[in-house]
Amino acid sequence: MGWKTLNDMDLNGKRVLVRVDINVPVVDGVVTDATRIQRIVPTVRDILAAGGKPILLAHFGRPGGERRENLSLKQLIPTLEAAFGTEVLFAADCVGTEADLASEALKPGQVLLLENTRFHAAETKNDADLAAGMAKLGDVYCNDAFSAAHRAHSSTEAIARLLPACAGRLMQAELEALEGALGAPKRPVTAVVGGAKVSTKLELLGNLIDKVDYLVIGGGMANTFLVAQGVSVGKSLAETAMKDTAAEILTKAETSGCKIVLPSDVVVAEKFEANAPHQVLPADQCTEDGMILDAGPESVTTITDIFGQSQTLIWNGPLGAFEIEPFDTATNAAALKAAALTRSGQLVSVAGGGDTVAALNASGAAKDFSYISTAGGAFLEWMEGKTLPGVAALEGQA
Ligand code: 3PG
Ligand code: MG
Repeated sequence: MGWKTLNDMDLNGKRVLVRVDINVPVVDGVVTDATRIQRIVPTVRDILAAGGKPILLAHFGRPGGERRENLSLKQLIPTLEAAFGTEVLFAADCVGTEADLASEALKPGQVLLLENTRFHAAETKNDADLAAGMAKLGDVYCNDAFSAAHRAHSSTEAIARLLPACAGRLMQAELEALEGALGAPKRPVTAVVGGAKVSTKLELLGNLIDKVDYLVIGGGMANTFLVAQGVSVGKSLAETAMKDTAAEILTKAETSGCKIVLPSDVVVAEKFEANAPHQVLPADQCTEDGMILDAGPESVTTITDIFGQSQTLIWNGPLGAFEIEPFDTATNAAALKAAALTRSGQLVSVAGGGDTVAALNASGAAKDFSYISTAGGAFLEWMEGKTLPGVAALEGQA
């Protein structure tokens, strides 16, 4: 891969500007999921161990270029200090005099956090002046924010061209895991794609058809494919306007040798609510007033058999309405099978996306997956075969 890592950089005594993604969920001032913070610890620790001085550069929420106190990164300091086991200093702006002075005064062993980069409207415009103001604060740039790498922003893209640049440990791990799953995977490769809409995942499906052996389609988008096959889906969520597109995908898959797997049986209810009365029906027998809320047991057997024949699995999107019981059954059963196969060394499994990770955590399967990405949008764009600007900017660095 064409980028450097921390191992390639001289860090001793250097101020290392580290772009991190600490865009974590916060409710009433309390961090409810610190995963993204935990995952940057190796980078910070390795920089400190090499005698470098980490200066953290990050966005938080979408303040739209205004200073908004509820989106100040200051509130994350206790969580960061607990994760790093060291004091975290703070500068109330990511550029300017206060940041300059704080960066110059930083001592080995200390970590400095800069205020939300998106308090500057220039950030999301990939503005060169803002990037230059940030670059002044460091001697080396390290991008550890894979989950923000689909954004071409001053702190992810422009700045990488102004300083010696490298990937952090998390960025490295994300890229290696994804490369292993889709770049040069062990075959057969299976992709699971679920979620509500075909329209938001069209490019993804198009790219996967050329790369994977089995494409398991679940969730609301499977209904659109059933409609494309002339099946009536009652009151199910489906994008009927996309049915021709879905039919084209089915035809294209045949020519490229990718087997698309749609549910053969489904769980149907008349209400979208937890424990709504439901029945298992063949996929082409949905009732007029029924809604398909999950894949049925026969479909789960088909899917888990495919997992058993596969060497690599890449997963984005749940198979059913996993947020309400018992319509999480197919997702849980398939996830636990993938976890078991991974544990026994038969499968490399990679998953990403907010909903997907929540579903895999809820089923208890996540801990056994080979790799769980911290990224949502960036994971999808990578699976779509797109170049991520934050990664591209690290490539070809002198
Ligand atoms: C995320 O949470 O997906 C990343 O931090 C990127 O945030 P954004 O979608 O606001 O650019
Ligand atoms: Mg996002």
